[in-house]
Amino acid sequence: VDLLGSTILVERGGLQRLSALLPRSTGTALIVDRAIPQTHMPTVTFTVPSGEGAKSLQEAIKIWEGLEEAQLDRGCCIIAQGGGALLDMAGFVASCYLRGVSLVLIPTSLLAMVDASIGGKNGVNGLNGKNRIGTTYLPALTLIDPCLLDTLPERQWSSGWAEVIKCAAIQGEASIGWLEEHLPLLQQRDPSTVDQAIQAAISTKIEKVAGDLHDRTGLRAQLNFGHTFGHALETACQGQLTHGEAVSIGMVCAAQLSIDLGLVQPTFKHRLEKLCRALCLPTAMPYGTDLQQLVALMARDKKSIAGQITCLVAHGWGQIRRQPIEPSQIRAVLYTNQISQ
Ligand SMILES: NC(=O)c1ccc[n+]([C@@H]2O[C@H](COP(=O)([O-])OP(=O)(O)OC[C@H]3O[C@@H](n4cnc5c(N)ncnc54)[C@H](O)[C@@H]3O)[C@@H](O)[C@H]2O)c1
Repeated sequence: VDLLGSTILVERGGLQRLSALLPRSTGTALIVDRAIPQTHMPTVTFTVPSGEGAKSLQEAIKIWEGLEEAQLDRGCCIIAQGGGALLDMAGFVASCYLRGVSLVLIPTSLLAMVDASIGGKNGVNGLNGKNRIGTTYLPALTLIDPCLLDTLPERQWSSGWAEVIKCAAIQGEASIGWLEEHLPLLQQRDPSTVDQAIQAAISTKIEKVAGDLHDRTGLRAQLNFGHTFGHALETACQGQLTHGEAVSIGMVCAAQLSIDLGLVQPTFKHRLEKLCRALCLPTAMPYGTDLQQLVALMARDKKSIAGQITCLVAHGWGQIRRQPIEPSQIRAVLYTNQISQ
């Protein structure tokens, strides 16, 4: 598939023929997760910490220095293989090194395959929270090889499903119905069903990104369904929740908000909740979450303007729209969600 000149290839076993797929370059640098075996012999390799530890300015600086040392020029290619955190940092590194060099992303987690590796957003975490420093920079190639998921820990596997379910909610009722119907096969990790689910989620993401790469018209923003609550929860719970777990709870909160606003029926939330639970995702906030802190964090979200909280609410399946929300409405949702546990 092509996304604004960036190729996205979903191919079981595709990693085996990586050399043939790589763009022509004057040298390659591989950025890889310490925990993941490498498969390519580059000019230079950088192994970085697993997970969010990779996503810091310090790691980026180390790599820029290493690229200089290896004398890699503007014709070089950076290959990044790992989860979403590593890819976000590597994309940022590639977009700034010599004002931008060729980039190949090889996502290894489900979440990175369906979300983080698509759409060109990258970044590192800043002093005031996640993803504060970054650019939008499309890779030359995103190679999605679902075989890589074989070693993914259970919890990370579940985490990825949150973004798949989110994409289905954004796409429409038929997509939610498809997930419901194929749940047993997905739970068994049936390869062709998993591949179809990945393809479907990617198509939704591509559709929204292609029309609004720089997140300006509101089309791409639909992909943030559940994320205003989710990001705040992720920060408030400090490492207790994975990104996907926070998005799962966030989606259920966004669904509750949509019910409170009279936009959807309670079944909207129940179907989302059922799918999330069936794929081992949490749907209520961890016990003891500080609600006041959550509201304050939501007001500070990158997407809020002058402290006014804006949320994506559902007017139905496939009808996600942005709307300003009062703190009291947020508090009501958080309260309902907390006691529903
Ligand atoms: N740029 C975007 O558009 C975008 C979209 C969504 C999420 N993100 C970012 O992605 C990050 C979350 O990504 P994630 O869920 O992949 O988490 P992650 O990158 O933190 O990886 C989770 C864990 O899984 C391990 N892992 C990954 N692949 C593995 C494999 N195949 N086998 C064994 N272990 C493996 C990693 O070492 C890590 O410990 C967050 O930082 C989030 O902000 C970015």
